[in-house]
Amino acid sequence: MTNKSSFASKVIHAGLAKVEQGKPFMQGPTFTSTFHLSGDVDNDFHQYARFHNPTWDALETAIGDLEDGKAITFPSGMAAGAAVMTSFVKSGDTIVLQSDGYYATRAYAENFLEKFGVIVRLVATQDILYQDFTDVRLVFIETPSNPLLDVVDIKELSERVHKKGGLLAIDNTTLTPLGQQPLSLGADISMCSDTKAFNGHSDVLFGHVATRDEKLYDAMLLWRKLSGNIPGPMEAWLVHRGLASLDMRLERMTNNAQKIAEFLQQHPVVKMIRYPGLKSDPSYAIACQQMNHFGFVISFDLGDKAKADSFLKNANCLFEATSFGGMHSMAERRARWGTDNVSQGLIRLSVGCENAEELIQDLQQALQKIIR
Ligand SMILES: Cc1ncc(COP(=O)(O)O)c(C=O)c1O
Repeated sequence: MTNKSSFASKVIHAGLAKVEQGKPFMQGPTFTSTFHLSGDVDNDFHQYARFHNPTWDALETAIGDLEDGKAITFPSGMAAGAAVMTSFVKSGDTIVLQSDGYYATRAYAENFLEKFGVIVRLVATQDILYQDFTDVRLVFIETPSNPLLDVVDIKELSERVHKKGGLLAIDNTTLTPLGQQPLSLGADISMCSDTKAFNGHSDVLFGHVATRDEKLYDAMLLWRKLSGNIPGPMEAWLVHRGLASLDMRLERMTNNAQKIAEFLQQHPVVKMIRYPGLKSDPSYAIACQQMNHFGFVISFDLGDKAKADSFLKNANCLFEATSFGGMHSMAERRARWGTDNVSQGLIRLSVGCENAEELIQDLQQALQKIIR
């Protein structure tokens, strides 16, 4: 694994205001639509709440610290992704997206960018590194990909894309900046759906981008300001609160996931399993190089729809829902959406913070019911 050096203290203190004598230790969210602004307009002051909010500022400082860049927050992961795909791409530009990544990202590009003359090229995760990037303006991919957890070498990809004059943005949702540092690996933008593990409590939709490039930062900030895609202060505050436990949650979730992946791998009912932390997984070597942990998402195939549905019905510890990264273990049969090219028996399992032995016991009894 790469540098595991401590995020534990950083996430707890990140973005908190300096405490002054007699002032509250924790700041609450700032609810206002505007700010007192007398005389000439000056950018040193907060002006209007579509442009600024102190609760965003605190969280963006925290995220910037973790990403080692400048952060902008958004009301969802998709809003953050839309900022990446929209704010500096123009008609005639080519953007490369994954054919097997989160489907809404490519659906956004196909529905809203193609009609303005942006060329959208979809490529399978495993083929991305070897694309010809001539005339490509932006490559925007998630690694590990979701749901099949292929890992792309970010450093190598950034070199190849930059050599041809393009930009690389990484959707870091499945790992968070604690699990992977896209900017340090050479990406121009790191993007994250904070709805998932970053907030971690399954109670907020949220997203962010981070970059070290001032021009990209300004373009995405302007897009937020003019499109009005702004986060609510309450949500920003909740995410900042959730962030304090991110390191602890990830430690439990990823340790649990490793144990569960090893258990599933040897179970006779499991036809195929993907988890980057398994030594036999095709992603293992590159995951060891660029990731700080192997994540908490496991994808495995039970062969067909009936077996997968039976497993989900009988696994009492799993909350059936379409998300991941929360404290509660969660699972779904991905093919039910008809948006991912995956087999009918494929289950995406997001491992939570419960007790690992209890989880395994419960999964064991649910798998046994398939055999009987
Ligand atoms: C990898 C990835 N990126 C982006 C998103 C979009 O995030 P949100 O649902 O917060 O808009 C998701 C949502 O599932 C996701 O899985």
